[in-house]
Amino acid sequence: MEPMIKMTNVNKEFKVVKRREGVRGSILDLFSREYDMLRAVNDVSLEIMPGEMVGYLGPNGAGKSTTIKMMTGILEPSGGEILVNGRIPYENRTRNAQDIGVVFGQRTQLWWALPVIESFKILKEIYQIPDKDYKDNLEYYDALVGAGGLYHKAVREMSLGQRTLCDILAAFLHNPGVVFMDEPTIGLDVSMKTRIRQLVSSLNEKKGTTVILTTHDMGDVDALCKRIVIIDKGTMIYDNDIECLQQYFGAYRTVKIQFSKAAEDFENNVLERQAREVEMWLKEKFPRAKSTVVSVEDKWIQVLLNEEEVRMMKVINCIQDNKRIVDMNLQEITTESVIRKIYEGGVA
Ligand SMILES: Nc1ncnc2c1ncn2[C@@H]1O[C@H](COP(=O)(O)OP(=O)(O)OP(=O)(O)O)[C@@H](O)[C@H]1O
Ligand SMILES: [Mg+2]
Repeated sequence: MEPMIKMTNVNKEFKVVKRREGVRGSILDLFSREYDMLRAVNDVSLEIMPGEMVGYLGPNGAGKSTTIKMMTGILEPSGGEILVNGRIPYENRTRNAQDIGVVFGQRTQLWWALPVIESFKILKEIYQIPDKDYKDNLEYYDALVGAGGLYHKAVREMSLGQRTLCDILAAFLHNPGVVFMDEPTIGLDVSMKTRIRQLVSSLNEKKGTTVILTTHDMGDVDALCKRIVIIDKGTMIYDNDIECLQQYFGAYRTVKIQFSKAAEDFENNVLERQAREVEMWLKEKFPRAKSTVVSVEDKWIQVLLNEEEVRMMKVINCIQDNKRIVDMNLQEITTESVIRKIYEGGVA
């Protein structure tokens, strides 16, 4: 089987204006500009097979959207080769559009003032969707998410969640081989996120569509992706099953702790300060625990520890002796904490 997406040593460089310092610098910048080359994607090679659902992850500015834009033909690579369904995306954008669907969480591809069903009719014309496929899809959408109730509503009158739902349905309408989603669940509430995940999962399964998903929400990843690719500063640092990642980090455990403090104090950076305190305290008590990460989440201070370096029981006993800690919660390793650790440089 041929891969749906094949990237070979792909680079993308942007020319960015070099800003000189101070008032004099700004004035100089007005007359003569100097440029720097910024390498947003660096030597990325990967193959994605038909029907796969892959999480394309990385911290802010890692180069995810840039990669997606190259795969969809919006941007041309500075080097290397990309093939999507055997074709070079930026060379024949009209033909390539037949093969791909896109969902960008921040904006809609639907016509703002029109009822959704009118947008769908336009898409039917643009993509020359056969009557039967079109009808089947609308019926399937209705059965899946009760989409029929939304068809006559104008996009501008929709909630963000309803709009995202329709955007996803639109992206799959012409039965493309691959759908790219750039942060599809951004800004949605918990129950809408769940609905969207179920929808994407059903569509992927029913249609065998390849799905490339970028997201900062590890709930999306847990619900949808068997395989994840992680890039950092443009360079690919991980490409494997999500399970392998969890095994690799199997020795890590998370402890959540809470200090006795009034609720209003949590807003005044008290939590941050306490987290630094916990960090110092752990360093002192467990000098061998080198890869400890202390972070703040909600009203909890979260400590990620490696059991190979420090025995969990010892930490728990220690916490129990600390009279200021009022609550504690022990957790299995989560994708969230694993990914955070990788973003913070924990793999090297
Ligand atoms: N058109 C452009 N011109 C110049 N620099 C750009 C351009 N587009 C992106 N960049 C730069 O390339 C790098 C990667 O950006 P990109 O949008 O791909 O990141 P991302 O992984 O999608 O991040 P986020 O999670 O914040 O969406 C950033 O440093 C960004 O500033
Ligand atoms: Mg992005």
